[in-house]
Amino acid sequence: DKPVTLFEIGKMRAEGRKISMLTCYDASFASLLERAGVDILLVGDSLGNVVQGQKSTLPVTLEHMIYHTECVVRGATRPFIVTDMPFGSCHESSSQAMRNAARLLAAGAQMVKLEGGAFMAETVRFLVERGIPVCAHIGLTPQSVHQLGGYRVQGRSEAAAAQLKADALALQQAGAALMVMEMVPAALAREITASLASMATIGIGAGPDCDGQVLVLHDMIGVYPGKKARFVRNFMTGKTGIDEAVASYVRAVRDGSFPAPEHCY
Ligand code: KIV
Ligand code: NA
Repeated sequence: DKPVTLFEIGKMRAEGRKISMLTCYDASFASLLERAGVDILLVGDSLGNVVQGQKSTLPVTLEHMIYHTECVVRGATRPFIVTDMPFGSCHESSSQAMRNAARLLAAGAQMVKLEGGAFMAETVRFLVERGIPVCAHIGLTPQSVHQLGGYRVQGRSEAAAAQLKADALALQQAGAALMVMEMVPAALAREITASLASMATIGIGAGPDCDGQVLVLHDMIGVYPGKKARFVRNFMTGKTGIDEAVASYVRAVRDGSFPAPEHCY
């Protein structure tokens, strides 16, 4: 199969073909996820939680992200590879973000993901104008866990919903091609997705009407020991292999059966 490109992702969005994304941190899983047909591998800073055993993503460093990106890149050629900019690596200034994003691209990432709304638009534009594709991330942004007062649904009040809508438009205007929405009411995520002309939305706890879905790999194969969030489905249930579970996730995203109402807010 041809490698997934940003162009192909834009086509999927335009044609209403759902985009499947999973986190990935090593070469063996990259290869398995590729064989199961996953479109986008996210080298997420959730590796702090699921690989390192940290309580949050805050201790994850740029060096960690580079190392895991290099591991993932060796394992797969078809999926598009997105790497998170870790806490403190992009919020100081556009030039700081550029310097660190360049290292992630040198490690093999094809796009960087950064957390934050309209306040990050200037940085997003700076990167995109210099050839670095950007995935935005709004709603529950785990690097702000202490500010947000825990891992809670975002955009519940009218003011918070209006802010998320404005954030999405600002990030699209700045040139972000993708945007993760995390723990946002399904109705709001649907409205935001419909309001966008070019940026594709990827939901996690954001309902079925985003252009694609993402989950943390360890959550969806049931190996993460923490409490299962409402938006997670364990795809290993009734399966005999991880390859089958991941293939079933890809099918469920494509046919719209995941997320179901019980996974939504
Ligand atoms: O790090 C991560 O796994 C993420 C996803 C939850 C979107 O950012
Ligand atoms: Na992340």
